[in-house]
Amino acid sequence: MILEANQIYKSFGKLPILRGVDLSVDTGEIVSIVGASGAGKSTLLHIIGTLDRPDSGRIVINGTNISELNEKKMSLFRNKHIGFVFQFHHLLPEFTALENVCIPAFINNVGKKEAEVRGMELLKRLGVQHRAQHKPSEMSGGEQQRVSVARALINNPSLILADEPSGNLDSENAASLHQLFFELRASLDQTFIIVTHNEELANISDRTVHMRDGEILDK
Ligand SMILES: Nc1ncnc2c1ncn2[C@@H]1O[C@H](COP(=O)(O)OP(=O)(O)O)[C@@H](O)[C@H]1O
Ligand SMILES: [Mg+2]
Repeated sequence: MILEANQIYKSFGKLPILRGVDLSVDTGEIVSIVGASGAGKSTLLHIIGTLDRPDSGRIVINGTNISELNEKKMSLFRNKHIGFVFQFHHLLPEFTALENVCIPAFINNVGKKEAEVRGMELLKRLGVQHRAQHKPSEMSGGEQQRVSVARALINNPSLILADEPSGNLDSENAASLHQLFFELRASLDQTFIIVTHNEELANISDRTVHMRDGEILDK
């Protein structure tokens, strides 16, 4: 089991957003989270990804109870174990594709040469190695999203969290991005939790989790 979240509660002000969420995910599983806008999907993903803390509840990732980590240990943990892919790629505009991919490795104290070798391998695997020296503005949306997946993978995280990763892509690029997730799982045994409105992706996932009003409906 890579993730075990128990009884996660979160409010913003007086508004309850997550109301006792339980979610367990096996290593190597590809899980889709679906639900109407405002259901709390992104909030849950941020909390699982240690970008935000729950008001109460317990989250264990890879055997570590992350609720017990202080800020510094939490960000080290995040950098090593978790990769994020967002709807908008959030690539830094002034850096090349390769530089963007390498930044999390630099934060993880990996040397420049080693990071670049691995960064190029990933860009190649994702079919965008010819874009390595290009800035984000010179790439198509599909290419930018592939670069952001490479960035998510650079530190070899065991858990990849994606928030509507194909929400901004045409159907062909979306299908090819989804295909990529399955290839990565097959070759690296990575686990994916993906918030999506894409029915095709939800259908091909190992499991679909439905959220409504801050709760998971599936038993
Ligand atoms: N930082 C925040 N401060 C206040 N309200 C928030 C914040 N983040 C999210 N919300 C509210 O929480 C609810 C759930 O948001 P979100 O988790 O983004 O839903 P989803 O991703 O399912 O669309 C929404 O009503 C949203 O307005
Ligand atoms: Mg959202």
